Amino acid sequence: MAAATFLLPITSSAAAASSSSSSSWRTPVRCSAERQVLFSRIAPVYDGLNDVLSLGQHRVWKRMSVAWSGAKKGDRVLDLCCGSGDLAFLLSNCVGLHGQVGALDFSSDQLSIASTRQDLYWKACYENIKWMEGDALDLPFPSSSFDAITMGYGLRNLVDKKKAMQEIFRVLKPGSRASILDFNKSTSWMTTMIQVWMIDNAVVPVASTYGLSNEYRYLKDSINEFLTGKELEKLARSVGFSNAKHYEIGGGLMGNLVVTR
Ligand SMILES: C[S@@+](CC[C@H](N)C(=O)[O-])C[C@H]1O[C@@H](n2cnc3c(N)ncnc32)[C@H](O)[C@@H]1O
Repeated sequence: MAAATFLLPITSSAAAASSSSSSSWRTPVRCSAERQVLFSRIAPVYDGLNDVLSLGQHRVWKRMSVAWSGAKKGDRVLDLCCGSGDLAFLLSNCVGLHGQVGALDFSSDQLSIASTRQDLYWKACYENIKWMEGDALDLPFPSSSFDAITMGYGLRNLVDKKKAMQEIFRVLKPGSRASILDFNKSTSWMTTMIQVWMIDNAVVPVASTYGLSNEYRYLKDSINEFLTGKELEKLARSVGFSNAKHYEIGGGLMGNLVVTR
């Protein structure tokens, strides 16, 4: 199916994006303004910093997360908070030429980089990706639209996590899965200490060489204010998911929630 026919009907901003070329994501989204500014500011260095700060491991965690989503050939899938598109590109490989990938973010700067990467690393199946500017808390899709959903390092940054889970539940088809990768808010003091040490002594100093120390200091608070694996499972069940399992990965520093509608 042509990418231009991806998931209609949708709201006006996403409709504009889906009815023309991949460069038409410009309708601004008004929500969580501060975070929107933050992610736009870090967009130019985001990919490079991820590689440096995780020693390339984020690529492994993202592959695991996509595998957990259960996406397969021909599926219609969605990557939320897609940023520069790492998970969307992986999903695109999974669903192939006859599948469709919707990739949504509220930062036009991140989407611009994603679109550039789509051209740069051209692959036939990448034509199935549609970049959309939109709010993960108010998804511009009809109910029961997707065979699988991924979200990498997005949930922690959303101001209303329950609403986000409700939206994922709504747009997933019954029986389908969402796979949500993020930092793990560990219940182990040792893991928490290592995480805090790494942020203070590696992440922030490296980010400061790009003039982004304040932006990356936000990481520690956002993990602190996030939910533990058990709390995420409980939240998922409370919004209706029939199954919810949180896996600790990366030595407990990261976590991946897998939920089934
Ligand atoms: C840490 S980045 C993760 C990017 C990508 N998923 C990855 O794993 O590399 C978080 C992304 O979430 C996006 N985001 C945050 N809140 C959002 C919202 N309410 N709606 C849509 N996107 C949002 C930001 O713009 C940013 O691109």
